[in-house]
Formats: sequence, structure tokens, C-alpha cells
Amino acid sequence: TLTGLDLVSEIQRLKKERNAVILGHYYQRPEIQDIADFVGDSLELSRRAAETDADVIAFCGVRFMAETAKILSPHKIVILPDMDAGCSLEDSCPPEKFAEFRAQHPDHIALTYINCSAAVKALSDIIVTSSSAETIISQIPPEQKIIFGPDRHLGGYLNRKFGRDMLLWPGVCIVHEAFSETELIKLKAQHPHAPVAAHPECPAHIIDHADYVGSTSGILNYAKTMPGDTLIVATEPHIIHQMEKAVPEKTFIGAPGADGNCNCNICPYMALNTMEKLYVALRDLSPQIHLDEELRLKAKKSLDRMLEMAS
Ligand code: 13P
Ligand code: SF4
Repeated sequence: TLTGLDLVSEIQRLKKERNAVILGHYYQRPEIQDIADFVGDSLELSRRAAETDADVIAFCGVRFMAETAKILSPHKIVILPDMDAGCSLEDSCPPEKFAEFRAQHPDHIALTYINCSAAVKALSDIIVTSSSAETIISQIPPEQKIIFGPDRHLGGYLNRKFGRDMLLWPGVCIVHEAFSETELIKLKAQHPHAPVAAHPECPAHIIDHADYVGSTSGILNYAKTMPGDTLIVATEPHIIHQMEKAVPEKTFIGAPGADGNCNCNICPYMALNTMEKLYVALRDLSPQIHLDEELRLKAKKSLDRMLEMAS
């Protein structure tokens, strides 16, 4: 039993013993964000994973992120506190179905959101994250036809912003899909001067109300630099932890779901990781990410293109 263990000091002790680095996403519980060596958005976390000289990467995020770390750093041990930490976007896009979609559109390139399996990355030409998508799409000639998966809301946002007509895979993030426009309008009426920051995984009817649209790091940066003292945050509410640390004098309100509060917008996959599971993963070096080498090399090509084009 783990009862009675001081998890914070035990995790720190194991981290030293294992020469591990703890990478955490902004959607993790506050105590995990606080013990992480680095907290960032998907692009920053991939870069950190590629550059680290630690022997072990303890990835506190979801499985596709830990897989990305393994693709970029194959000689490191990559552990994930809970192997069931998936993603609704990944689940919406089985590789066999995605291969059919590609085959139906042979004159299109596949631009693919990083929220997908290694097998789907291997079938793609260029990966994007929400913070790199705009830079990357602006480097692709307008006449080039594109299929974009698996997030139809991010794809739709890019189509509208860049005047493209990418064919969209019909996946959604269940977390961002759950914001209620009616409740958001009510909240805005209560805080008429508060800007709204939204993640591009939100549906268009939420993005339409946003003063700023960007990745988790982009939204955090906006929170630091925005005018005024109150911000409505239309993304997973655990990011508010970093905002409150960075600018404690400002007020951050999570955008509501249909029940009028932001609790239904907690990512159930991200929430599977706990301090107990992180401790056990560091102690046992399990659960661990393993990838077939041929698949890894194919997936790495599209990820490398992202890293080149994003910089
Ligand atoms: P970013 O951190 O890249 O904005 O991604 C958000 C997300 O949904 C990760 O699952
Ligand atoms: Fe997937 Fe959405 Fe959770 Fe991110 S927030 S891991 S996109 S389900």
C-alpha cells in the first residue's frame, strides 16, 4: 500500500535515482504540474523529449504524447503513469480507416494533428500541433490539396483562417466539444469586459466568441499579456493552475458546459494520471512505451517535417 508515503519526496528521490525527467502537459492535475521539470504544450513537450539527456522520460500527459516522445527519443525509457490515458481524437481515427481515406484522395497530402496514433502518423506527410499548424499551413502552396485529420474543428478553423478547403476527418475532442454557447453567452453577459481565449479544438460556435485563439501555451501567454483583469478560458480548466501561478492578481474563469460550470470540461484521459501512478511508474519503470522500429521510423518522418517547418 502507498498510504503514508510522502509521494512528493518519493517521486523526487526516484527521479534522481533513475536520472529521469518529468514532462507534464497543462491539462494535468496541479500536483503533477508542480512536480514536473517542464510543463508545456504539445509542441514544446515534443521538443523537450527530443532534446533531453535524461535516461528516463516520465510523460505526464496522454498516450499519443508519450508515443511521440519515444518516436523522437528511441533510446530513452518512456513511461506513462496510466497506459489507458488515450484521446477521443486518436480513437476516432483507426489506421485502417485512415489508410482508406488517403487512398481515396491520392492527389492530396496528409496534414495530421499530433493527437493520433503512431500508425496514423506513419500514414501522414506532415504532423502539426495547435501551436505549429498556422506556420506550417502557410508554407504549403495554395494549390496543394490536403486531407486533414483527425480534428475537424481545428481543420475547420484553419480552413476558415487560411481560405483553404482541406478535406476533414470527422473526429472531435470530447472536452472542447462540450462547451455550451448558450452558457458562454450568459457568462459573457456577467463579465462584459472579460476577453475569451479559446483553443482551436473548440467548435466554430465557441471560436466565434473568442478574442484570442491558440494552443495551451498561446492561451497562457495571452493570460499574461491581455488587457483587463478577468479572462474566460475555453480550454481544459487545469491550465488555470499555471495562469494563477503566473498572474495571481487576475481572475480566470473556465468556460461552461451545458450544466453551467466547467467541470464537464475536465479531460477524463488526462485525469487518469495521478501522483500514486507516477510514483509506481518511476519505481517499476512500467507502464512503458514500446514501438515497432519500422513503424517508429515511418512516424518519425512526418514528425521531423513538423519540427523543421515549425521552427
Ligand atoms: P496543445 O497543448 O498543443 O495546445 O494541445 C492541446 C490538447 O488537447 C492536448 O491534448
Ligand atoms: Fe484528447 Fe481532448 Fe483530452 Fe486533449 S483534451 S487529450 S484532445 S480528449
